[in-house]
Amino acid sequence: MLSDIKTLLGKDGKRLKKPIFLLVIDALFSMIFYGMLYNVLLDLINNDFTFAKIKTYTIIMSIAFILRVIIIRIGYTGIQTEGAGATKVMRISLGNHLKNLNLGYFNQNSIGSLTNIMTNDLQDFERIITHSISDLIKTFCLSIYLLAITFFIDKQLGLIQAIVILAAVPIIYAGGQKAQKIGKDKKKVIDEVISRMVEYINGIQVFKSYNLIGDKFDRLEKSFRDFKKQSIRTEISIAPYVLIFQTIVDLSFPVLLLIAVSKFGNGNIGSKELLTFSIVNIALTNILRTFSVQYGEFRYLKLASQKLIEVYNQPEIGYIYDKSNFKNYDIEFENVSFAYEEGENILNNISFVAKEGTKTALIGPSGSGKTTITNLIARFWDIDNGIIKISGMDITSLNPDVLLKDISMVFQDVYLLNDTIYNNIKLGNQDASYEEVVKAAEVANCHSFIDKLPLGYETIVGEGGSTLSGGEKQRISIARAILKDAPIVLLDEATASLDADSEFEVKKSIDKLTKGRTVITIAHRLNTIKDADQIIVLNQGKIEEIGNHEELMKNKKRYYGMIEEMEKSKLWAI
Ligand SMILES: Nc1ncnc2c1ncn2[C@@H]1O[C@H](COP(=O)(O)OP(=O)(O)OP(=O)(O)O)[C@@H](O)[C@H]1O
Ligand SMILES: [Mg+2]
Repeated sequence: MLSDIKTLLGKDGKRLKKPIFLLVIDALFSMIFYGMLYNVLLDLINNDFTFAKIKTYTIIMSIAFILRVIIIRIGYTGIQTEGAGATKVMRISLGNHLKNLNLGYFNQNSIGSLTNIMTNDLQDFERIITHSISDLIKTFCLSIYLLAITFFIDKQLGLIQAIVILAAVPIIYAGGQKAQKIGKDKKKVIDEVISRMVEYINGIQVFKSYNLIGDKFDRLEKSFRDFKKQSIRTEISIAPYVLIFQTIVDLSFPVLLLIAVSKFGNGNIGSKELLTFSIVNIALTNILRTFSVQYGEFRYLKLASQKLIEVYNQPEIGYIYDKSNFKNYDIEFENVSFAYEEGENILNNISFVAKEGTKTALIGPSGSGKTTITNLIARFWDIDNGIIKISGMDITSLNPDVLLKDISMVFQDVYLLNDTIYNNIKLGNQDASYEEVVKAAEVANCHSFIDKLPLGYETIVGEGGSTLSGGEKQRISIARAILKDAPIVLLDEATASLDADSEFEVKKSIDKLTKGRTVITIAHRLNTIKDADQIIVLNQGKIEEIGNHEELMKNKKRYYGMIEEMEKSKLWAI
């Protein structure tokens, strides 16, 4: 029952033993209240309830109270600290693990599901170790303790009580199974709600422009409706099990009491025993009622540990070497084929060499696989066939973190953190000094616009860089790449959206970024294409033509046609 949790906790699990033990001791101490009730009732029966006795009971209760406060403080603080500590370690290790997974994993899992795992499931797991387990162990120990007392009073009564509990166990177990099954569906619905929420927030501008705001945005509305339905379904399907269990336990109370009274009438047990049994029976009934609720909750929460284990079981990207030993920065593709989804090849038999210090331009229609090629060089995905080498070394043999140290990337869609401009540039090199960050910004031609902002480098850019223009965002991402100062530059140009001035600024900064490096650029501008040492024309995942501008112009094939079109549109623009 606890194997998933043990696996996830690893060595940290041992640290929970002491606080759980203390909480069990506290639970046993809580029985003193029933002990006192027993004494008071006995005194009242015997007409012996004196002031001196009240004083003694008060002192005992006070001491017990102080002891409980101390034990709870140590036990509860202990379990909270240890639990929070263990979950913190898990959060970090899970983050690292996710970083080392193939991007295919993120393709297959919705943003809602991943967010749910990193937030709700981790929180549920923390709740299991800080509350659920100790509550269940406490309740279990108390039940055994009280049952033992009943046996001690009268074996027959104890046996009947044990039979009643055992008869109710399958019901509570079935309730737990149901909670787990329904819980799985509920989690899926929550995944969907989160995905739709993220989609709604990210696309708010678009939805507004189509007047799809609020209840008109049916996708989000539907996910909320499903969530409501699923929550009601969860409550309705678990309630009968808890109700039946509690009814059995509740009914057993008067029945057992009747048996005890008749035993008393027959002289089998004395008045003290009858009194003790009545009190123990009240306590046990209450504890079993609590147990039924706790167990259902535990089974639901346990789903979180299963989901976390599933993530941990995803294989990380494999490698052999932790050091690159590159002698040069030649990039080589040998018969590379690749599919994002099995069976749907995006790249077919791609072979080319990009020599160190040269520029290779990738051109081709939208969807022809240009971005995919750069993503494969950075090993965001692993290829299905062929081999990609840097300096003759298969990149799959190298630790991806080490590989990425040698690569600067400027993506087609610039992503900026909701943080200061300074920190956004510094992402390129965490060890860079303030001066180095400013220098990179100067080289990337963004210093002048940053300097004009009231808060300069300390200006917070909105999430995804929403408060900056397209050209500004791009230059910041180039400054980031310049700061990284890597020998290989992968550049996904997206100059189409820029006006002539911004394009000129971006071009200047790109020139500085790429000087003397091995560059693979996805080029849209005529000049970049013409300047490249090698041009690769892609179409539907295949290389159609390869060569420099002059060679390809002579071929008079697709490249020739494209350049003609570009020249024409340039004339139009003028
Ligand atoms: N993460 C992904 N999962 C599944 N398919 C993808 C993924 N990324 C891209 N594709 C598909 O792979 C093909 C090539 O995409 P790619 O982004 O490499 O094209 P591209 O040449 O860069 O196009 P563009 O000029 O529009 O940027 C497309 O059909 C695209 O739909
Ligand atoms: Mg692209």
